Amino acid sequence: MFGRCFGPADEGMIAAIEWVLLLLTAFAVVTTLYSCARTGVPAVPSSPRVCREVAGLAREVLGNKPHPLVLDLGSGYGDLLLAVLRAVPGARGVGLEVAVMPWAVAAVRGRLSGRRGCFRRQRYEGYEGSGADLVVVYLGRAASRELAEGAVRLRPGTPVISCFFAITAWEPERVVRCGDMYRTPLYLYRVP
Ligand SMILES: C[S@@+](CC[C@H](N)C(=O)[O-])C[C@H]1O[C@@H](n2cnc3c(N)ncnc32)[C@H](O)[C@@H]1O
Repeated sequence: MFGRCFGPADEGMIAAIEWVLLLLTAFAVVTTLYSCARTGVPAVPSSPRVCREVAGLAREVLGNKPHPLVLDLGSGYGDLLLAVLRAVPGARGVGLEVAVMPWAVAAVRGRLSGRRGCFRRQRYEGYEGSGADLVVVYLGRAASRELAEGAVRLRPGTPVISCFFAITAWEPERVVRCGDMYRTPLYLYRVP
């Protein structure tokens, strides 16, 4: 009366799909936890509100610079970098991310966004970033300290926007409080 909904062959297919999804989820969880354990920084994306406010600050800092290069150190799922690229006309972006799953998601989002730039799966330590016109970061305290100690090669005078965590070895040029419930601080520095 109801016709044939699915038979033994379909059940096999459904079970196979369930296994693939389960394995992919387990892979994503294990690799993300592993990266977090190694770096001490979880792959937590910046909130839409923080992204918007960083993007506004980035636009202001970059002014009319033609085709500026924006670097996101620890780019996660791409939220922060893509928000900046959307807000700054002609901007190009490079995101560096060590964890596989966030990087893969960011790479797909980057492609779909049609913005100029790329997400690379690599650690930022030792990266030659002297071509960057702006650096954005949302890392932990230890990572921010590493940055001040020269973990990434940056041109003196390059603006750096750090979300939430201060780079204590540097004097901020400005501190902006976001309008979110945490009043998230954004620290604007110039590389000494
Ligand atoms: C808090 S998330 C921020 C993601 C993104 N920037 C945003 O604001 O939405 C920090 C990311 O930095 C990555 N990360 C931490 N240490 C790293 C390193 N040494 N090299 C590259 N990525 C790193 C983590 O895997 C994590 O995804």
